[in-house]
Amino acid sequence: MTSGPPLRPEARPGFYARRLAGPGAVLAPMAGYSDAPLRQLAAEQGALWTVSEMISARGLVLGGDTDKLTLGRPYPGEQGRVVQLFGAEPEILAQAVARAEGWFAPAALDLNMGCPVPKVRGRGGACLLQTPEVAFALVRAMREATALDVSAKIRLGWDEDRSVEVAQGLAEAGAALITVHGRTSAQRYTGEADWEAIARVAASVPVPVVGSGDVTSAAQARARLRSGVAAVMVGRGAVGNPWLFRALAGGQEEEPGAAERARTALRHAELHVAFYGPDRFGLLSVRPLRKVLPRYLPAHPELRDALVQVDTLEDVRRALAPVLAPPAGDPACVQGPQAAAAGAEYAVRHR
Ligand SMILES: Cc1cc2nc3c(=O)[nH]c(=O)nc-3n(C[C@H](O)[C@H](O)[C@H](O)COP(=O)(O)O)c2cc1C
Repeated sequence: MTSGPPLRPEARPGFYARRLAGPGAVLAPMAGYSDAPLRQLAAEQGALWTVSEMISARGLVLGGDTDKLTLGRPYPGEQGRVVQLFGAEPEILAQAVARAEGWFAPAALDLNMGCPVPKVRGRGGACLLQTPEVAFALVRAMREATALDVSAKIRLGWDEDRSVEVAQGLAEAGAALITVHGRTSAQRYTGEADWEAIARVAASVPVPVVGSGDVTSAAQARARLRSGVAAVMVGRGAVGNPWLFRALAGGQEEEPGAAERARTALRHAELHVAFYGPDRFGLLSVRPLRKVLPRYLPAHPELRDALVQVDTLEDVRRALAPVLAPPAGDPACVQGPQAAAAGAEYAVRHR
């Protein structure tokens, strides 16, 4: 435990306080998903902030090849992106913070205390819930290494709920914000997130708490806000649905139509190719998006087979063609009544 008086976060108003002054929701860190293209789409729709996939502090400090570190690299002009680090050694975390700050221009730094995957556990992640004093030392070391806000993302505990005690220690160590995923590490992703437990944490620490777990709609997010959290974080529910951020930021409530969904799926693929460039075979591959693209069009199961087999941008275009809007004023491109309806809808929405 730390000694001395608790650090008052309001003594150093930072990124989180500024962003929390407005409405909206946060894009969750998700390894394999919350990469630059997904973050860009969420940010454009008004996400309060986004969080990178977790990055190994050791890898950052000892690896050293910036070109390959697409995990942390921002897209051109990216702002409001928090970089999440995992690790268990204060000196390494401090050095990783300095590297991340120099290389990735983060808005704030977050400590991963929730990942239950064994290879991460051995060096940090949810393991830190069993040895919270180590996590407190990590937060102190990270704070000393940067003037940016430092936060932590926890689960409720390892196999039982210790979240209040852990969160209080983190706040005392200087965390400017704490995100709580309402499950224990032992639960992984089973059962339901416990929002009452999240509410208890929010009521017992002097810093903002962001709640995470099972939010898939704007209505649900609003209901969860009533638990006293400063904001709601959305992970799986935001994959293929960046419009959730638009609704929660106070923008358009209306659900997008098929044409807008298809255009955004295509844009996701275009951003992917632009960000990652050619793969090791020299191909502009969109294969990693096979798991993502069908989620843009849940009402169109007939597109699924083609979308889960895409290799190139052209494949994506072809797979989406039945629902993509034709260019305005080009009726020759309209194929059948479905495409005509999609085109009309697009014209109305974008006038
Ligand atoms: C595929 C996947 C990858 C994740 N990766 C991370 C991660 O890198 N860091 C982290 O703190 N949480 C990670 N999480 C947890 C999410 O941030 C979030 O807390 C959890 O999924 C519950 O929220 P949801 O129901 O809105 O998805 C991941 C979750 C999923 C499903």
